[in-house]
Amino acid sequence: MTTIWKTSLAIVLIGSLFACGGGEKPTQPPGASAQSTETGTSEQSPKAKGLITAADLQLGEVDAAMAEKGKITYDVKCQACHSTGANRVVGPGWKGLATKREPAWIMNMIMNIDVMLESDPEAQKLLEECLVRMPNQNLSKDEAREVLEFMRTL
Ligand code: HEC
Repeated sequence: MTTIWKTSLAIVLIGSLFACGGGEKPTQPPGASAQSTETGTSEQSPKAKGLITAADLQLGEVDAAMAEKGKITYDVKCQACHSTGANRVVGPGWKGLATKREPAWIMNMIMNIDVMLESDPEAQKLLEECLVRMPNQNLSKDEAREVLEFMRTL
């Protein structure tokens, strides 16, 4: 009994931690988060969801050679839906995106779009605006990183 208590207390505490970090209102009653943990759809850590974290990325000065490769990937796999300007095509334009969003968040939008659309409030907001689910373009981490570098030039 006490163990169960401690566990659910821990879950509630973790839950509220994430609620603050994500800027979400903690609208769930206590216990609701414990329930969703069992179904596996709850507020797990980014690592547990297989997401990239800031610690996985190293950003220095913009690397022109990497950005060049990223531009090629963009032309082939992203251009149909994203402009390099501010205007939306199918998805949002990329101008200034790399200064507006966290690099790890961008990487996850590229590599883990399904998890993001399922669990990230910002990604869900974009889906509401765009009304199209971005398809996973199956980029390797290196390719995604090059596209991120290209974005940093915009
Ligand atoms: C079929 C259209 C389509 C293609 C192709 C596409 N995207 Fe998207 N992308 C979207 C849509 C739509 C959204 C908004 C989220 C949603 O509705 O799923 C989005 C959102 C994004 C975002 C977040 C934008 C923001 O304003 O925060 C990034 C980053 C992104 N896409 C990167 C890429 C990359 C990189 C590629 C190419 C490898 C790509 N996308 C290919 C449609 C597309």
